[in-house]
Amino acid sequence: MKRIFSGMQPTGVLHLGNYLGALKRFIPIQDEGECYFCVVDYHALTVPRDPAELKRKTVELAGLYLAAGLDPKKATLFAQSHNPDHTEAAWMLQCVARIGELNRMTQFKDKGKGSDSVTAGLYTYPVLMAADILLYQADEVPVGEDQKQHLELTRDIAERFNREYGDTFRIPEPKIGKAGARIMGLDHPEKKMSKSAASDANYVTLLEHPDSIMKKFKRAVTDSENEIRFDPETKPGVSNLLSIISVLTGKDISSLEKEYDGRGYGHLKIDTAEAVIQELRPLQERYTRLMEDGEVERVLAEGARRAREITGETLAQMREKMGLITRIGL
Ligand code: TYM
Repeated sequence: MKRIFSGMQPTGVLHLGNYLGALKRFIPIQDEGECYFCVVDYHALTVPRDPAELKRKTVELAGLYLAAGLDPKKATLFAQSHNPDHTEAAWMLQCVARIGELNRMTQFKDKGKGSDSVTAGLYTYPVLMAADILLYQADEVPVGEDQKQHLELTRDIAERFNREYGDTFRIPEPKIGKAGARIMGLDHPEKKMSKSAASDANYVTLLEHPDSIMKKFKRAVTDSENEIRFDPETKPGVSNLLSIISVLTGKDISSLEKEYDGRGYGHLKIDTAEAVIQELRPLQERYTRLMEDGEVERVLAEGARRAREITGETLAQMREKMGLITRIGL
C-alpha cells in the first residue's frame, strides 16, 4: 500500500487556495493509501508570532482537517511538534543539504526579502519539510503548485543521502492537482492567493460568512473586456473564477466558457460565490460541532502515537548510517 504525507501551517487563516490546492484533495486520497497529515507547528515558528495564538491556530487547523472530511480511522492526523523525530532528522539532513540549494528557494527569497533579520529557521525551513516527508518513507505528497520547488529539494536531499550513506529513503513524488493547484488572489489575480496578503480582499477563508464571501467575489478584480475566456496570461481574474467554479462544480472549463458566453462577468462572479458558499456550508457546520466536544485533542494524541511508531524506524537507520552511537535505554 502506498504511503502519502502532507502538511499545512497553522498560521493566519486557511483560505480557498489551501482548500482547493490541498485540503479538499486529501479527502479522497485517504482511501488510496496509508495517509499521514500534519499540522506543521514547528514550521510556524520560523516567523515570530504570538504563542497563545499559535496554540489556538494549531487546534483550529486540526479541526478544519476533520471538518473537511478527514477520517481519523483511515488517516493519521497529528501535530508536527508531538513527534520530535522531525527536528532530529531535520538537523541530520541540514548536514546533507547545501547552502547553494537553500539560496535558490524562491519562497525564502519572497518571504525573507533579502533582510538579515529573518530567522535562521526560515532559511532552513525546506529541510524540515524534507525531514517531514522522508521520515515517513512517503511515496506521494499532495500539495499546491507553490510547494513544487520544496519537493524537488526533498528528492535531491534523499538521493544524495542514499548515495553517500547507502539506500535509506524512498524518493517521494509531488502530486499537484490538475485544477486548483494555484488559486489567485481575488484582489490581485496575477499573484497567488496568500494568507500573508496585505488585504483580506485577497482571500476567502474557510470559516467566512456567506455574505462576506459573496461580497468579496462581487468585488473580485477582472478586466475591462466582457468576454468570458480562460487565458491566465491576459485574463487572470476571469480565469481564476473559471478555475474555482470548475473545481467545485466538476464542469470543465470549455463547457463553462460556452455556458457563460455573452452573460457578463457579474453572473460568473455570483455563481462562483454560490458554489463556494455551498461547498463550505457543511464544513462550517461540522467545524462548529467538533470544536465544542474536545474531539480534536483526542485525535491529535492518537495521531502522534501512530506517527512516532513509523518514524522511529527511519530515524534509527539514519543515526546508524551517519555514525551516531546507539542510545542505550531510549
Ligand atoms: P502552506 O501551509 O503554505 O499551504 C498548505 C497547502 O496549501 C497549498 N496552497 C495553495 N494551493 C493552491 N492555491 C494557492 N493559492 C495556495 N496557497 C497554498 C500549498 O501548496 C500547500 O499544499 N511548507 C508547507 C507545509 C509543509 C508540508 C510539509 C507540505 C511542511 N511540511 C510536508 C507537504 C509535506 C506550507 O507552508 O504550506
